[in-house]
Amino acid sequence: MADNVTDDVTMDKIVSLSRRRGFVFPSSEIYGGMGSTFDYGHYGVLMKNNIRERWFEAMVRNRDDIVAIDSAVILHPKVWEASGHVAGFTDPLIDCRTCKLRFRADKLEDSNCGRKPSKHPGETPECDLTEPRRFNLMFETTIGALQEEGSRAFLRPETAQGIFINFKNVLQIARRKPPFGIAQIGKSFRNEITPGNFLFRVREFEQMEMEFFVPPDEAEKWYRYWIDERLNWYRRYGLRDSKLRVREHGPEERSHYSQGTSDIEYDYPIGWSELEGIANRGDFDLTQHAEYSTTKLEYVGQEGERYVPYVIEPAVSIERIMVAMLVDAYDEEVVGERERTVLRLHPKIAPVTAAILPLIGKSDEMVAKARSLYEDLRRRHSVEYDDGGAIGRRYRRQDEIGTPWAFTVDEQTLEDDTVTVRDRDSLAQERLPIADVGAWLGEALERDWKSPKAD
Ligand code: GAP
Repeated sequence: MADNVTDDVTMDKIVSLSRRRGFVFPSSEIYGGMGSTFDYGHYGVLMKNNIRERWFEAMVRNRDDIVAIDSAVILHPKVWEASGHVAGFTDPLIDCRTCKLRFRADKLEDSNCGRKPSKHPGETPECDLTEPRRFNLMFETTIGALQEEGSRAFLRPETAQGIFINFKNVLQIARRKPPFGIAQIGKSFRNEITPGNFLFRVREFEQMEMEFFVPPDEAEKWYRYWIDERLNWYRRYGLRDSKLRVREHGPEERSHYSQGTSDIEYDYPIGWSELEGIANRGDFDLTQHAEYSTTKLEYVGQEGERYVPYVIEPAVSIERIMVAMLVDAYDEEVVGERERTVLRLHPKIAPVTAAILPLIGKSDEMVAKARSLYEDLRRRHSVEYDDGGAIGRRYRRQDEIGTPWAFTVDEQTLEDDTVTVRDRDSLAQERLPIADVGAWLGEALERDWKSPKAD
């Protein structure tokens, strides 16, 4: 790492930049806000779109063995009985009768007493804690006008079950044979007791899950395969190796359905924490849904062989990826005695790929040339035109939103139809003909990219 570069990225810095530059806003702010709920601004939406696109490309578009699905958010209530969520998707809760705060019984060590924040709950004589009670994390709703027996339903706490209940449809209609996968991207909802750390733990998040159905004797092989694939995806999109690790769960830590689980962890400002989980779910889900729905959910081969496939599941939320990528990219450096904040995002993740800037915003000729380049590029790329204010401030603004390249139209452009291209990371500038910019950008996007922040 260069001497003038720091890597003390705090969550506060990420929250502040996200808000200042319009990535993420605290939700319902004009009504006083709603804790741990967020709305995405323009650049947040563009960045999320890119993360979704890269995942879908790697998991579906570039493969022959995975198809997509988009299931309903509110499924038949029996789905959640079969999956084990009604009975088992709970956290143990403890209330303090003195400070009226609520804590997760298994996380008392990480919580602060309401009266004396330097102590943990239960550590002061005034603490008056209840016995632990089980609290279900699913959001309940009612279907129809009357709140009567049978109208109770749930917002899905994971997208996975929408995939399992469509296993038969895909097997028959998409004519698939194990090993094959079904991928889904969509909102999931959990009534988390202790949300927090910005987008890391929220109550509403967008999951990207893929269920890979395999012959049981191949499960271990595919489990290892998907850990590697997913780890490589993070590396490809710029997360530094030193900030990534795989942690295998011990038997006591695994979910009820799991025969093996590994977390890909990222070294967030809150410490090493789960970014993505990869689980070998065995035949638990298909067997449960077969029993509860009385529909056979198995694979029958041409030779008459039949089995219930095992499932390998990589599961992640866009929120956790977004926090990891923002943290990994955030940088502050001093250039020529001036400080700059820069997001060193992978070019295919950055919300804006290139900025098109006339050097002098009041020059009609420069504006005309710059706008014409912009109109041409916007048909294929996420680009932004900006002619307001001093050029240095415009560059700095683009640095803060992570725009990898800026094309500037200046006096020389008016003479020879060339522009400068400025590189966000190295700050190097080169000249190229305006007519070549489209091809240059296309090629630049396909180059391998490595974070200039040291590993
Ligand atoms: N279908 C399996 C499943 O949902 P999980 O470990 O509970 O497993 C999978 O969740 C992923 O979803 C996590 O690795 C994390 O990326 C994301 N996730 C879970 N709860 C979240 C929350 N409250 N806020 C943001 N992301 C969350």
